[in-house]
Amino acid sequence: MKKAFITGVTGQDGYYLSKFLIDKGYEVHGTIRRSSTFNTKRIDELISQYSEKKILNLYYSDLLDPSSLNSLLQNIQPDEVYNLAAQSHVAVSFKNPHFSVSTSTNGPVSLLESVKNLGKEIKYYQASSSEMYGGVSTDYLDENSIFDPKSPYAAGKVFAHHMTKIYRESYNLFCVNGILFNHESPERGETFVTRKITRGIGRIVHGIQNNISLGNLDAVRDWGFAGDYVEAMWLMMQYKEADDWVIATGEAHSVKEFLDISFNHVGLKWEDYVKIDEKYIRPNEVNHLLGNPNKAKNLLDWKPKVSFEDLAVMMVESDLKLAEQEKVLLEKNLISKTWED
Ligand code: NAP
Ligand code: GDD
Repeated sequence: MKKAFITGVTGQDGYYLSKFLIDKGYEVHGTIRRSSTFNTKRIDELISQYSEKKILNLYYSDLLDPSSLNSLLQNIQPDEVYNLAAQSHVAVSFKNPHFSVSTSTNGPVSLLESVKNLGKEIKYYQASSSEMYGGVSTDYLDENSIFDPKSPYAAGKVFAHHMTKIYRESYNLFCVNGILFNHESPERGETFVTRKITRGIGRIVHGIQNNISLGNLDAVRDWGFAGDYVEAMWLMMQYKEADDWVIATGEAHSVKEFLDISFNHVGLKWEDYVKIDEKYIRPNEVNHLLGNPNKAKNLLDWKPKVSFEDLAVMMVESDLKLAEQEKVLLEKNLISKTWED
């Protein structure tokens, strides 16, 4: 049985990747952070199904704790390491630059060093990002496009990207960079723009929220479905050689277009509910990201299966159900309203 080690297993991608690898017959080992409240919500179902059978195994660790990462890798001896952990919110990285940058730079170096020193052939996956390109050009971006990071988050990712390549070239290690463009799902963090919108729509429809406050509605992204993107991560790790890969849909859409589709789905007009709040305007914006996934399509035989429209509808439908449950709990005073109007 192959063993995978995943950092950031409690995140959106951690959830989809764990599920994908378990279905492929892997034993999954993931790190979780100690928190004063439980933070395993996304993977609770997987825990109840697979932890007793030792198919899913969880350990407390942090990317800022190299000794714990090293001893975990020594003990587990995984075949594949997927480094997904990061403070992944771009706007938050301006507010918490030390933490954001330390996690995404020191973490990968610690893991790469451990992988190098283990003396076993271990494959390493680094979660690189389309944010590294900076969003200045409206051209298609591919593996050879120039990086121009616009945030502490993106600068940290550029460093990790180069380090992954350096370990590949210097020590002949199987180190892969997956340059993933934005990918979303019903499991997306609730402060990223797509989920913030669909969560808001669910609550508006059920009468427990009045408005959604947003920032730059003209930003353009290449949005895909997280479930499709974790498959690409795994395919990169099975390819005959380690490389850098762009994963994207090849379609660009604005925040306004996401609003259009999502609000239309419930028969409402977004213009009646969306307010602009300056606090969501970033100090330095990434205006336009559009990826060219042809290399992955041709060599990995990967392609995105879920369209932009279907993704928005999938998220709205899921959040309508969540809001319906919240409404009942609110009426019974079992929860309080913690979200903004
Ligand atoms: P996410 O939902 O924010 O998950 C991030 C994960 O990292 C969570 O499990 C989080 O733990 C963990 N984490 C944060 N800081 C950590 C630290 N210091 N030590 C250990 N774990 C830490 O992000 P995602 O959307 O799944 O993205 C996965 C990775 O892909 C990230 O590296 C992200 O930067 C990158 N990426 C994402 C996208 C995208 O569109 N989703 C695109 C390109 C690249 P808690 O649950 O305890 O917070
Ligand atoms: N979060 C957020 N909240 N974004 C908003 C809002 C708002 O209220 N209003 C407008 N936006 C705009 C942002 O300014 C940005 O241009 C765009 O919507 C997308 O923002 P996010 O959903 O926060 O994602 P991101 O593109 O900044 O970063 C995500 O994708 C990267 C890959 O390109 C994250 O998942 C990163 O971790 C990932 O690397």
